[in-house]
Amino acid sequence: MTLSLHSPLKIGNHALAHRVVMAPLTRMRASEPGAAPHALNAQYYAQRASRGGLIIAEATQISWQGKGYPRTPGIHTEEQVSGWKTVVNAIHQKGGIVFLQLWHVGRISHSSHHPDGSLPVSASAVRPAGETFAAGFKRMPYETPRALLTGEIPSIIEQYDRAAALALEAGFNGVELHAANGYLIDQFLQDGTNHRTDQYGGSIENRARLLLDVTDRLIARLGPARVGVRMSPFGSVNDMRDSDPLSINRFAIEALSDRGIAYLHLIEPRVNAGLREDPNIDAPPSVASLFRPSFAGPLIVSGGFTKATAEAGIRAGTADAIAFGRAFIANPDLPYRMAVDAPLNPYDRPTFYGGAEKGYTDYPALQVEQGAA
Ligand SMILES: Cc1cc2nc3c(=O)[nH]c(=O)nc-3n(C[C@H](O)[C@H](O)[C@H](O)COP(=O)(O)O)c2cc1C
Repeated sequence: MTLSLHSPLKIGNHALAHRVVMAPLTRMRASEPGAAPHALNAQYYAQRASRGGLIIAEATQISWQGKGYPRTPGIHTEEQVSGWKTVVNAIHQKGGIVFLQLWHVGRISHSSHHPDGSLPVSASAVRPAGETFAAGFKRMPYETPRALLTGEIPSIIEQYDRAAALALEAGFNGVELHAANGYLIDQFLQDGTNHRTDQYGGSIENRARLLLDVTDRLIARLGPARVGVRMSPFGSVNDMRDSDPLSINRFAIEALSDRGIAYLHLIEPRVNAGLREDPNIDAPPSVASLFRPSFAGPLIVSGGFTKATAEAGIRAGTADAIAFGRAFIANPDLPYRMAVDAPLNPYDRPTFYGGAEKGYTDYPALQVEQGAA
């Protein structure tokens, strides 16, 4: 049987009805100052839920220290848990499945996001180039982060563990560890940002240790069927580099494969140009085909896919499911549109981050346009 985007797929203990996954998408529309999801966020996710469809909810900080941008949601207070419950219930009511992406941004934070005004933390004191969104959407240069002490690492692992417990309390079907795009776990993986000399730096085994320690803790908390991991091998988003990306990523992916996690989620480096410009998709060194042999479980792949390239990847077996980002922002009924080969709404980049309904809950669904139910 030839596989397609609309073939079923088992992820963890869930039977997905199709393989059109909603990628994690930061939209900076949580409440302030509580960083909690609210009714508008529940409406947005409900619009994008489908029966048997997998949604990976946006990157969600596990602590104030892990927060990197204005109005991103958290999963470390009771107010946030109760906000997420409304989101999860709305998705479940439509028969959808939802994992929460757990996020500590490390050096990509800014002291203005921390109630105590403390500096961002990272593997080493290496400042990212460029500017970020500080509190109140103010553009500010990045700060030089403080290198975490070896003795502080257990408390970072605790933050992930507690967030996973709260995600379960909120009703999520699982969690996705954000180990991609230059955030904290990635800052430990890559030697451009990790100059440590303790057991979390130096060799490949040491640089992968935080990723694997956190993954093991999440597995202990939730079981492997409820834990996914997202990585961006060869990615340069957020000023990242490594002297030998193939070796560190192959080692980490094989170690994740041995742990029998629910899925591995890879981002194709063709989106390196950043999500601020349209990427050049003409020269895609495919990390999906490169690492497919290293991971035994389900592989979700993301980054610049069209329906045609997604179908080709699934047919060829280089991906088991495709996560769509920008197309899902603009098309709440993307799985349906792809099933019937309908044209897609174009996305509106200026409304990606911040604001309210505009560019968030006002993209039309096909059924509504046609006046059907
Ligand atoms: C507005 C926006 C927000 C994003 N937020 C996240 C995020 O929270 N976590 C993450 O891992 N990736 C994030 N990404 C990356 C997407 O998940 C996805 O990998 C990327 O958009 C490429 O897929 P696409 O070409 O289908 O858009 C974001 C991308 C965009 C455009």
